[in-house]
Amino acid sequence: MRRNLLIVYHSQTGRTEAMARAVQDGAADPLIESVDVRFLRAAVAGPDDLLWAHGLLLGTPENFGYMSGAMKDFFDRTFYPVEGRIQSLPYAAFVSAGNDGSGAIRAVHRIANGYPLREVQEPIIARGEITPDVIGRCRELGMTLAAGLEAGLY
Ligand SMILES: Cc1cc2nc3c(=O)[nH]c(=O)nc-3n(C[C@H](O)[C@H](O)[C@H](O)COP(=O)(O)O)c2cc1C
Repeated sequence: MRRNLLIVYHSQTGRTEAMARAVQDGAADPLIESVDVRFLRAAVAGPDDLLWAHGLLLGTPENFGYMSGAMKDFFDRTFYPVEGRIQSLPYAAFVSAGNDGSGAIRAVHRIANGYPLREVQEPIIARGEITPDVIGRCRELGMTLAAGLEAGLY
């Protein structure tokens, strides 16, 4: 059976986008054959994308100690249309921050609980420049989610 993985991200200066592209690379690993990936900016993602998805990867910068406004808007716009129609969708999050990131993760966790989304991997928080190490960890995150969906783990 084919499984669907949705990657939703927002990025203003390109750091979260670099992380998201690495996540996408990992999910597209040639060893994973039965997972389709949809890669969308938060501003264009909508309820139909969430209803399509069997798994979700969320990427946001930390802005003012919270997730970005665009990511919050994605949650605000989609909550009622998907309410009662998704059950415990497996997800993981990645954050680009100047020097913290914990507020963005806390905000994602709170909203995820209400959605309901189920966190299946530790979040990645990158502070400052996006290093090759961060890119490697993001790639691994994408691959892990996709492989887990394919294997029926989630
Ligand atoms: C309006 C604004 C608010 C920010 N607030 C925070 C913050 O609260 N904590 C933090 O660690 N970094 C903060 N930053 C820094 C960004 O999180 C950081 O530059 C991040 O790497 C940007 O990611 P992007 O390139 O994907 O937009 C803020 C940046 C902006 C523009």
